[in-house]
Amino acid sequence: MTYSRIGIIGIEYQLPKYVIKQEEISLGLDIDINKLRIGLGLEEFSVPDRNEDCVSLALSALSNLLNKFNVDINDVGKIEVGSESNFDSAKSIKSYLTDLFGNNTSISGCDNVNACYGGTNAFLNSLAWLDSCLCNRTYAIVICTDISLYKEKAAIPTSGGGAVAMLLGRDPVLALVPSMVKHYSSNESDFLKPISKYPFPDIKGKESIEVYKQAFNKMYQESSFEFEYAVFHAPYPKIVQKLCNENGIESSKYTSSLLTSIRNGNSYTGSLYFSLISLLDTQIIKTNEKILLYSFGSGCVSTLFCLEKVKDGCDNFKLEERLNKRKNIIFTDYLKIVNNYDNPSTISLDEGGKEDDRYIISKIEGGFRQYSK
Ligand code: HMG
Repeated sequence: MTYSRIGIIGIEYQLPKYVIKQEEISLGLDIDINKLRIGLGLEEFSVPDRNEDCVSLALSALSNLLNKFNVDINDVGKIEVGSESNFDSAKSIKSYLTDLFGNNTSISGCDNVNACYGGTNAFLNSLAWLDSCLCNRTYAIVICTDISLYKEKAAIPTSGGGAVAMLLGRDPVLALVPSMVKHYSSNESDFLKPISKYPFPDIKGKESIEVYKQAFNKMYQESSFEFEYAVFHAPYPKIVQKLCNENGIESSKYTSSLLTSIRNGNSYTGSLYFSLISLLDTQIIKTNEKILLYSFGSGCVSTLFCLEKVKDGCDNFKLEERLNKRKNIIFTDYLKIVNNYDNPSTISLDEGGKEDDRYIISKIEGGFRQYSK
């Protein structure tokens, strides 16, 4: 079958500044460490600094992408953002990102919101644009950015965060396979954010596990997709392992994709694409091999799709090195950040200067935030 080759040319990302070990969470919340390590498969998760939010993470990921792939900003005609971080109900995160495009103000797109699925909606919309008569430029860029926070003791170990930026276009490294796309949606109330600007969801944790499995099972069992590797929206590693066991998917196909779930946590819209980064960074994928991707957002909207590696590239992320660079914090520091999440600061928790060139919140005036490196 012939189809136009559209897909991912390059990917970059930004991790939050801090990391907390599950041992700290176990001691701080009085949860058996074996439940976190063995029961859920977790080791640690990323925590943003007081001067980081989903916009600063998105700006950093985007800036990393533009630099790494030497993108001419005038060649970008679309930016779509996926986020569920409840940042602003009117102004898109995308609007902040246009600051990096100089005089190029002719960029379509805005934010996509549906729990962890918004990034995939952004991804599929952008590919459709590239394949349409509306496409007037070379590239589309998709950003998935989130910070995952919980109030419930049982859910806190499954927190995380981060941003992924993807450069999409023709002649990609990873091409969408149009005949291998399936969708599943249903009306569920497993995870809601009814209060504007409030970062904590109202959750029915056990129910959400069932919805997550049900959506995958329905699409997977009705498809006959053949693939060499599989990557998942991964709220915690054990849920992926159990789903794969139940569906006869061998561990060699997905285990290496779980690194960010184990060490970065649930980055919501970015989770699936961080799983993809984990897999690609192993550099084991050969040309013509296919990767199955499972995108899920509570509520629920989900898609199962395939990407085929069509040429070399997009396989050098220095992931372990960058995960190791995050600064360790203890439980009391974690509480200082989370309890004051609604009241961000321009000053880092450790009050030192910035050691890297990430974007931070540089000015806060009422509800208005400004960002700079
Ligand atoms: P919990 O209360 O910790 O669950 O909540 P549990 O008591 O069932 O324990 C988890 C596992 O640990 C169980 O194993 C226990 O047996 C085991 P399983 O029965 O599953 O095989 N266990 C132990 N193992 C070894 N030693 C021990 C021990 N004790 C217990 N001592 C839950 C877990 C995930 C529900 C909670 O953390 C939560 O609510 N998290 C947030 C929601 C979530 O992550 N849901 C996942 C699916 S929905 C989704 O992915 C969407 C989402 O990303 C949001 C969006 O779309 O925007 C969340």
